[in-house]
Amino acid sequence: MQPLLANKTILLGVSGSIAVYKTVDWARALMRDGAVVRTIMTEAATRFMAPLTFAALTGQPVNTDMFQQADAHQIPHISLARQADCILLAPATATTLARLAHGLADNLLSAVVMAATAPVIICPAMNTKMLQHPATQANLTTLRRFGYLIIEPESGRMACGEEGPGRLPEWDQVRETVLATLRPQDLAGRTVLVSAGPTREHLDPARFLSNRSTGKMGYALARTARRRGARVILVSGPTHLAPPPMVETMRVETAAEMELAILAHGKEADALVMAAAVADHRPASPTKAKLKKQAMPPTLPLAATSDILRTMGEQKKKSGRPAVLVGFAAESSNLTTEGQRKLRDKNLDLIAVNDIGHPDRGFAADTNQVLLLDRFGTSRQLPLLGKEETADHVWDTIIALFPDRDQGLRARSKKANKK
Ligand SMILES: Cc1cc2nc3c(=O)[nH]c(=O)nc-3n(C[C@H](O)[C@H](O)[C@H](O)COP(=O)(O)O)c2cc1C
Repeated sequence: MQPLLANKTILLGVSGSIAVYKTVDWARALMRDGAVVRTIMTEAATRFMAPLTFAALTGQPVNTDMFQQADAHQIPHISLARQADCILLAPATATTLARLAHGLADNLLSAVVMAATAPVIICPAMNTKMLQHPATQANLTTLRRFGYLIIEPESGRMACGEEGPGRLPEWDQVRETVLATLRPQDLAGRTVLVSAGPTREHLDPARFLSNRSTGKMGYALARTARRRGARVILVSGPTHLAPPPMVETMRVETAAEMELAILAHGKEADALVMAAAVADHRPASPTKAKLKKQAMPPTLPLAATSDILRTMGEQKKKSGRPAVLVGFAAESSNLTTEGQRKLRDKNLDLIAVNDIGHPDRGFAADTNQVLLLDRFGTSRQLPLLGKEETADHVWDTIIALFPDRDQGLRARSKKANKK
């Protein structure tokens, strides 16, 4: 599996905030994703952390001085700017924001940012009052206008003891933003609805029927779609997974709750991908009070839950929405026949069938191997891949199935040209 940031150089621009210590970990995390990390520190940043720390951890020299030329043929700020695939300014102080907003190239970091053409992500970190000061707010507005991506600081208790916005965001959100800047935004302008995880069907307040789904496949679909620019609504059954950053996540428990959430958002979705393992049956007569051991019936009467995919297939027939309807099917035999039957019966555009007879696919695994069958009779067996890679193949296929694909592309490129 190729790391997501293989062959990418990220310039990490560090300025003089108390939050510097956090970005040491971020440098390591970027390297785990395969990136080469080149650090540039302001003079003030070096008062908080020695350049040696970043140099030793990233295995790369750290640049701090515009006028220190290691190589007579290289002008440091120009050669660093050219190397960057993405520039991440974290933490970004009020002073650094002001410098950049006013075009002051009076230190190496701001000179590099001004000389670069790579996307720039800025993570401001400062005391709440400094953040809310009109000068800082005006500078942030200017920087947004320049096309820089500003990640809003989080609220919480600050190092100075005050409470409020000004803290660095969680790494997961920053990572997703970095990954998104390096990907084609081929789902921009689309809303996608993804379901994930199992459902729980209660017998009594203590017991339920459920299944082995962990939600990993659905969460991977949500993350990758967001990275490719979509607005993503994730309807999740109970899982232990953290909600993906920048995704509208709704938590539900039962099949009936999942159905309500899917129906509520189905019409606004360009694509619906039902990766959840929705229970087909529920206990017929759940009780409000916990059943005593002795009162437990020897056989459990079941009632069918409603088939959400089928309902959405019917809705699509009437309204044409969601434009692309995708199901997942876990099978242990006759994958093609079973997949084709469900595809036809439920009026789907695409079905991803996985063989659950192997420990490295389907439930709980980090990898998956799916067979993609579309409504035009095309069949594609994907190799064993990480779930995010599998998800990307599913999105590639969905994009090709959008009925307004060419129109959509034209509209989006017109919009991009106007900017
Ligand atoms: C202990 C301490 C913590 C600081 N933390 C911050 C901070 O989080 N954010 C900020 O904007 N400035 C902070 N400052 C002030 C900056 O270091 C100062 O404004 C400096 O000029 C920033 O320069 P630079 O942007 O070139 O790194 C702090 C100063 C001290 C002494």
